[in-house]
Amino acid sequence: MQHSTVRIRVNGDVREAPVESRLLLVHFLRDVLGLTGTHIGCDTTSCGACVVLVDGRAVKSCTMFAVQADGREVGTIEGLAQDGVLHPLQEAFHVEHGVQCGFCTPGMIMGALPFVEENADPTDEEIRRAISGILCRCTGYANIVNAVRRGARTLHGLPVDGAGAMTSRHGAETGPGSTDQPPGPHG
Ligand code: FES
Ligand code: FES
Repeated sequence: MQHSTVRIRVNGDVREAPVESRLLLVHFLRDVLGLTGTHIGCDTTSCGACVVLVDGRAVKSCTMFAVQADGREVGTIEGLAQDGVLHPLQEAFHVEHGVQCGFCTPGMIMGALPFVEENADPTDEEIRRAISGILCRCTGYANIVNAVRRGARTLHGLPVDGAGAMTSRHGAETGPGSTDQPPGPHG
């Protein structure tokens, strides 16, 4: 079996290890580096539970070989909180209860992160499109949309309402059970 050495910067730390060339990035993160916050829901590019940042872009880490990440910057959910303080987007998921079982949450947050960094006050439609490549099995999309909106506004210093008051706008259907899942950018 052919081996290569992969050297990446993960959450600011340089990590290096020999891997089989066929090893997926998600398995490298979880099994070699021990970063199990990145989840595996399907292994077939469908669910988005495995989304991480690669050079700042949201990527399904089950779609990349570890060797393809060699020399690149990778961000995982473990790197978001700083000195015990949650990132505003994490805090927003907490306040808005954008979590049920939590299985999709690391992928949901990492997938939404580049979006909220670029969008201070997104509409429901924009949020839903941004997270459309990431599936929540619990179908808690209403609270997730509210959480992403709160995270975006907080990150950009805009005022936010009380928990549960970040209601959907523009008439979008965001309630639990919604099956509106157009193809997303996280491929
Ligand atoms: Fe489901 Fe990667 S594990 S998309
Ligand atoms: Fe359960 Fe999303 S909170 S899969």
